[in-house]
Amino acid sequence: MRLNSPQINIITRACQKASRSLIRDFGEIENLQVSTKGPGDFVTSADKRTEKTIIEELQKAHPDFGIISEEIGVINKSNTKNRWIIDPIDGTMNFLNGIPHFAISIGYEEDNEIKCGVIFDPIKNEMFCAEKGNGAYLNNSRIRVSNKKKLADALLVTGGPKHSSKIKEKIFSEYIEVSKTIHSSVRKFGSAALDVAYVACGRFDGYWQRELNYWDIAAGIIILKEAGGFVNFFDTDIQAPLKRNIMASNSNIHDELSALIIKKNIE
Ligand code: IPD
Ligand code: CA
Ligand code: CA
Repeated sequence: MRLNSPQINIITRACQKASRSLIRDFGEIENLQVSTKGPGDFVTSADKRTEKTIIEELQKAHPDFGIISEEIGVINKSNTKNRWIIDPIDGTMNFLNGIPHFAISIGYEEDNEIKCGVIFDPIKNEMFCAEKGNGAYLNNSRIRVSNKKKLADALLVTGGPKHSSKIKEKIFSEYIEVSKTIHSSVRKFGSAALDVAYVACGRFDGYWQRELNYWDIAAGIIILKEAGGFVNFFDTDIQAPLKRNIMASNSNIHDELSALIIKKNIE
């Protein structure tokens, strides 16, 4: 990998350290203690252990940096200049069910812009990473988005809605609308971070999803951009700064996908 900013090195180290116990936990999935955080949203002891290891590693390097992390919340709130944005396990439902498709996602934000990020799938040993201006990589190889030109030919992925969603009907109508337009059926893989990473390396051509949290996709933003893709957020609620509705693509199909979802704004 040809990325070598201090931040990317710190994040990579944290991911590798945290993934050791995560891989062990995945092997012993039945023994995990599961507690409910809300309907359809479980927090495992593995989420918390992974988060603790990541935060310890990041703080060794920069104790003063702000942190937004899914389980623990905000640390060093007053530092909004330099922040780590962490999802210790993205794809917890997969993890809990023994499905080997989940990832650690860590982004580094400076002055409200994501400068670098890593999405690490410890089971497949795939590390997606990028830093602003220096390209995006999967392990040691440079990655690029696909070259598909037409939405009809695209392979798309989405996710949700959550059980608690108040806009399920809208989300389902969008799913139907997109499904009618494209030839291959829409995928749902259950990890927003990996969904974006897979668009970045050309496995998927596009991804959209409502009601995500910033930590789900913070690292993905820079990885996708550096791979030549395009990402935007739509129907943003200024009252909920950490909520995101995302549209991410190889950029060629972006207008067509937006026209279907954003401009139409299906009720
Ligand atoms: C979830 C995953 C899933 C998405 C959910 C997220 P979690 O994150 O990214 O793909 O559909 O909206 O909450 O809970 O596994 O970290
Ligand atoms: Ca997540
Ligand atoms: Ca999570």
